[in-house]
Amino acid sequence: MSVFASTHPLVAHKLTIMRDHSTNPRQFRELVKEIATLLTYETTADLQLRPRPVQTPLAFTNGAELRENVGLIPILRAGLGMVEGVWELLPSAEVWHIGLYRDEKTLKPVEYYNKLPLEPTVSVCIILDPMLATGGSAVATIDILKKWGVKKIKFMGIIGAPEGIQLMQEKHPDVPIYLAAIDERLNENGYILPGLGDAGDRQFGTG
Ligand code: PRP
Ligand code: URA
Repeated sequence: MSVFASTHPLVAHKLTIMRDHSTNPRQFRELVKEIATLLTYETTADLQLRPRPVQTPLAFTNGAELRENVGLIPILRAGLGMVEGVWELLPSAEVWHIGLYRDEKTLKPVEYYNKLPLEPTVSVCIILDPMLATGGSAVATIDILKKWGVKKIKFMGIIGAPEGIQLMQEKHPDVPIYLAAIDERLNENGYILPGLGDAGDRQFGTG
């Protein structure tokens, strides 16, 4: 399985401000968006192209255009803030929301929103969720997308825990993971350490 963890200085700088407990929701949302844009560059590096001839002001030449239809799959709520960032670089990507929350006791994902149409409308899906903790939410979303019929799936997060990466490796080794950082471990409540706290609450001011 492929796991990409960014070493880009801009990502490290922005992530540190996100981690800071005194960063307010407005700044936090801006940083989620900016890191998502930076990670999009890596996440889309293997998208397929087809030839597109182009007339410049000076000459006729061979160009290229994206061949694949990309679907963004934000996991509600926290994945929502990453959509705008990815759209900066992929403005025509479709967005299909999946609603999952973690049961506080079992830490298992509970599905509450899914309006995917019968047939897939995209050839590549990029799942967006800032936190890959136990990995349960990511695995459940990939299960849904594979059942929908999508063959090419990627996961883009901000922080991943080793426990979540391991679960992905066991359940969906074909899905590459793109992260801003890999942290140390989960605490007894399933939160990532050192992490950044609750990514949904910090974006929406509900903590
Ligand atoms: C958070 C986060 C992920 C999930 C990660 O969502 O945004 O979706 O937890 O945990 P896991 O890897 O252990 O499944 P949460 O349940 O807090 O819902 P929210 O986004 O609505 O706040
Ligand atoms: N969900 C979050 O928002 N933060 C964590 O650390 C783990 C799961």
